[in-house]
Amino acid sequence: MNRATKKTTALESTTGNTIIQAINASREYQLEGEIIYAVRSVNLDVEKGKFITLVGRSGSGKTTLLNMLAGLDHPTSGQVLFEGMDLSDYNEKQFIQLRRHRIGVVFQSFALLPLLSAYENVELPMRIAGIGAKERSSRTNEVLEMVGLGRRAKHRPYELSGGEQQRISIARAVAMRPDVILADEPTGELDSVNAAEIFGLFRHMVSEEGMSVVATTHDRTLIDMSDQIYIVNNGMLELTEVGLNDYDHSQFKKPVTVTESE
Ligand SMILES: Nc1ncnc2c1ncn2[C@@H]1O[C@H](COP(=O)(O)OP(=O)(O)O)[C@@H](O)[C@H]1O
Ligand SMILES: [Mg+2]
Repeated sequence: MNRATKKTTALESTTGNTIIQAINASREYQLEGEIIYAVRSVNLDVEKGKFITLVGRSGSGKTTLLNMLAGLDHPTSGQVLFEGMDLSDYNEKQFIQLRRHRIGVVFQSFALLPLLSAYENVELPMRIAGIGAKERSSRTNEVLEMVGLGRRAKHRPYELSGGEQQRISIARAVAMRPDVILADEPTGELDSVNAAEIFGLFRHMVSEEGMSVVATTHDRTLIDMSDQIYIVNNGMLELTEVGLNDYDHSQFKKPVTVTESE
């Protein structure tokens, strides 16, 4: 792979509050002899305690960029740094630690374990991370309530709607209290009321807990809740507005749970 050969020593190019930094990050795919430029020379600073939305049409490069910010994929040129260290330089052990404690990912496909209940899906990563039983239980109950699914705790994913599964996958990420949550179209399966509540939950985690969130969306009605809005167009990033956020997170309410099946 034609990865960037330039090495960056820890903290070299990280300014105080930046947790993840993309520097001229590009990702190309070779497909049947054709080169697809999925992400082109993106520069992005994810700062502590900031909520960033990436808005763009399908195929614009959102998932590719988010995967690189998570270290799940690497740029073909340029770099992505986590606290100043190039994610391409992480060894397996360091990467596992990073994913276990620092970065939470909400996948577009939810990635829930089908044989586990909603409760167990949320609890498992905390168990793996060595969080004690009492703490696990209180956090699991708390986040399930936060996403409005306290009463669905015992259900398995196949007994839940797409939107409910999506909320479980968000609860699972939030429960870990990572430094950063990277969420790929986390409201893609939700109606507008629930989508707004999930963005409200992110807003709350950012404003009250100091977490950072990067969420992709194609729903423009939600973006005012974030601090920075970038348009992703043809693999390129364009900052549109900064500091727009006037959402009153003290008004945070849990999402509405549909009760028709009860
Ligand atoms: N594994 C892959 N191989 C080839 N092309 C890919 C691959 N993944 C994504 N692409 C292409 O890269 C571009 C950006 O895709 P993606 O990041 O999934 O966009 P979005 O998430 O905004 O819909 C698209 O043109 C897509 O077809
Ligand atoms: Mg996508």
